[in-house]
Amino acid sequence: MNLLITLPVVAAGVIYLIRKQREYSWGWANNKSSLKGKVFIITGANSGLGYQTARALAKRKATVVFACRDLIKANEAIQCIKEEVKDANLTALPLDLEIFDSIKSFCHDVNREFPEFDCIINNAGLSMKEPFVTSEDVEVHTLANHLGHFLMINLLLDLIKKNNARIVIVSSKLHEKGTINFETFGKLVEPYTTKQLYANSKLMNFYFAKELYKKGIDVHVCCPGLCYTELFRDYTIKFYHWIVFSPVILLYLRSAEQGAQNIIHCATDDENDTEKNPSNSYIVMNCRQTKSKINLSDDVSEKLWIESKKLSKIE
Ligand SMILES: NC(=O)c1ccc[n+]([C@@H]2O[C@H](COP(=O)([O-])OP(=O)(O)OC[C@H]3O[C@@H](n4cnc5c(N)ncnc54)[C@H](OP(=O)(O)O)[C@@H]3O)[C@@H](O)[C@H]2O)c1
Ligand SMILES: *[C@@H]1O[C@H](CO)[C@@H](O)[C@H](O)[C@H]1NC(C)=O
Ligand SMILES: *[C@@H]1O[C@H](CO)[C@@H](O)[C@H](O)[C@H]1NC(C)=O
Ligand SMILES: *[C@@H]1O[C@H](CO)[C@@H](O)[C@H](O)[C@H]1NC(C)=O
Ligand SMILES: *[C@@H]1O[C@H](CO)[C@@H](O)[C@H](O)[C@H]1NC(C)=O
Repeated sequence: MNLLITLPVVAAGVIYLIRKQREYSWGWANNKSSLKGKVFIITGANSGLGYQTARALAKRKATVVFACRDLIKANEAIQCIKEEVKDANLTALPLDLEIFDSIKSFCHDVNREFPEFDCIINNAGLSMKEPFVTSEDVEVHTLANHLGHFLMINLLLDLIKKNNARIVIVSSKLHEKGTINFETFGKLVEPYTTKQLYANSKLMNFYFAKELYKKGIDVHVCCPGLCYTELFRDYTIKFYHWIVFSPVILLYLRSAEQGAQNIIHCATDDENDTEKNPSNSYIVMNCRQTKSKINLSDDVSEKLWIESKKLSKIE
């Protein structure tokens, strides 16, 4: 046979097999048991990983609350899922994690409409090309990715305890590159890079989980892996980037549905290994408990809690 034909065919076959092997190693949340009557609150459920998580939970008959800053987008997402899951029980509630008043009113809504929730998934997040200081006087990554959720969970803490509800925190492997500097916490101080601000906020997520765990909350942290979502919407991706980065894409880029498996696993699995918790630096990656390279210090975790209370003006 002609080499010009066989070579590309063999190469394509090998690439296909490598990709399939990678996908297999990323794991899948296979638990199909019904979640009827269980209430899951997901921040940022209108897009990307949050959307795929909501979709999977809806298929398992769960009730899902879409906590979103844009109700039009949230209701569009709900309609999309309803086309697939006719009797899905989905509701949108407004929540803008960059505005303290919005967070407070969201918590009132939850108290009124869904006081008996089972799980809250802190999923919403962003990465801005041009970081800025918001109207709450807090740098945007710190606020949207960490502090907003911190305030929300604190305002719901009594209910969380009463319901024995689970909290899932969507961090990232990039937390390993993060640092927390209390001198500049919440501020935008030169020199900075977006990547650093993002990584710092993902480390804060992990520390927040550690402290919640220490307070007796059932909390799970995960990294979804590098996923194809709207997270990079602020950046222009040119066609040649796809070619230049094709090996990375082949080896690392997951679909949103694939990445969401980690969140679904954390939200619904009953794994109870007391050693493998966020306080001991365990994070779910590839649907498995994995130890982070970072040892989370108790001092930082306690201080972050105190400073976050100050910054969100609850003390
Ligand atoms: N994609 C990845 O490779 C990757 C890797 C590791 C970790 N993660 C984490 O996964 C989570 C989900 O991200 P994604 O990849 O699914 O991105 P995405 O498609 O952009 O979804 C992010 C969601 O967060 C919402 N959001 C952002 N800022 C908000 C705010 N101030 N108030 C309320 N909602 C807000 C967005 O709402 P709008 O649509 O209204 O903007 C959107 O629904 C994030 O925490 C991210 O850090 C992602
Ligand atoms: C949707 O779920 C909520 C919370 O579990 C429940 O109170 C409500 O009756 C459900 N609605 C329908 C139509 O099943
Ligand atoms: C599957 O999910 C259900 C509901 O969350 C849970 O009760 C059950 O223990 C799970 N099964 C496994 C093997 O984790
Ligand atoms: C996990 O198991 C320990 C010890 O058996 C128990 O004290 C704890 O309440 C369990 N946690 C959950 C979330 O089931
Ligand atoms: C974390 O702690 C373990 C056990 O105390 C130690 O072996 C390891 O070197 C530490 N890692 C870092 C990055 O400090």
